[in-house]
Amino acid sequence: MIPGMSFIMSRMFKVRSPLLERTVFGIRFPNPVGLAAGFDKDAKLFNELGCLGFGFVEIGTLTPLAQDGNPRPRMFRLPDDSALINRMGFNNRGAIDAAKRLRSKRNVIVGGNIGKNKVTPNEEAYHDYRKCIHELYRYLDYFVVNVSSPNTPGLRELQEKEPLMSLLHDVKETLIQLGSKLPVLLKIAPDLTDTQLDDIVQIVKDTKIDGVIATNTTISREGLRTPYNTLSLIGSGGLSGKPLTNRSTEVIRYLHKKSGGSFPIIGVGGIHTPEDAIEKLEAGASLVQLYTGFIYEGPSLVRNINRRLISYYEQKEQILSKKS
Ligand code: FNR
Repeated sequence: MIPGMSFIMSRMFKVRSPLLERTVFGIRFPNPVGLAAGFDKDAKLFNELGCLGFGFVEIGTLTPLAQDGNPRPRMFRLPDDSALINRMGFNNRGAIDAAKRLRSKRNVIVGGNIGKNKVTPNEEAYHDYRKCIHELYRYLDYFVVNVSSPNTPGLRELQEKEPLMSLLHDVKETLIQLGSKLPVLLKIAPDLTDTQLDDIVQIVKDTKIDGVIATNTTISREGLRTPYNTLSLIGSGGLSGKPLTNRSTEVIRYLHKKSGGSFPIIGVGGIHTPEDAIEKLEAGASLVQLYTGFIYEGPSLVRNINRRLISYYEQKEQILSKKS
């Protein structure tokens, strides 16, 4: 970064207040607004993104081997819907390459989102997650097991009860063997049924992982303003942004209720305004993340959410003190 730039950016975008701070899965966050996975895939920009006011940055998805991802074009804007469709396909330079950069000094909490290479069959997926953990555990604050991207063929089948249980047990065991206590989160799709969500609650309890990120992009195209012809020209991929707002909040609310709030949830999907973030926090999220809102609204969105949250928490405190 240009010398002095981080100072200027921090002055412009960082919002500090004890009201924003919180401890979730053992980590002290300066504010609850994070950058979702997929933006800083190769861990090249996390410090700059920290200067833009994010309370945490999730790098990845990283796979053990570098891979090119799908052919271009693979990302499409749907301006009429404030949405994106992407089929990037885990393009990344691999976990070893990212680890090199993560060794340098960090100014922000960094989570590592990990997945499997396209060429790895599902039965051997656990090898890939293990390899990523081995390369990265020394340099991260938490891990995310990503089994919910629609752009790696068959990956989402790992969300089924049996394979998911054994994958998460293996991830936990790998960390124990390394003597690491890093929190492990599971990132899920918004397209799961209620029965599948019930399984997720059970699996989190049984495997003793630390929380859930809800949600990844959706394969649904319901209710879009973008004409059908445009959508069929675009083709397959995960839809993110405004059309996802309500569904991801619904998933958060469902998980929070069913689990009795027994594990933390990071809420992500279609946060484009401070009110969208508040809705997710009220539904039971402990932290939130954004990606598409950041693309459409720019970094001022992060600052505006944090500012609005301060006044929201101040109002809440006032109401409570009047009651007592
Ligand atoms: C993503 N997302 C994503 N998620 C993930 O776990 N690993 C990844 O590599 C990616 N890659 C990715 C690329 C692009 C171009 C987009 C738009 C999204 C999903 C992302 O982290 C988030 O879960 C969804 O986009 C929903 O949030 P927003 O975008 O509606 O705020």
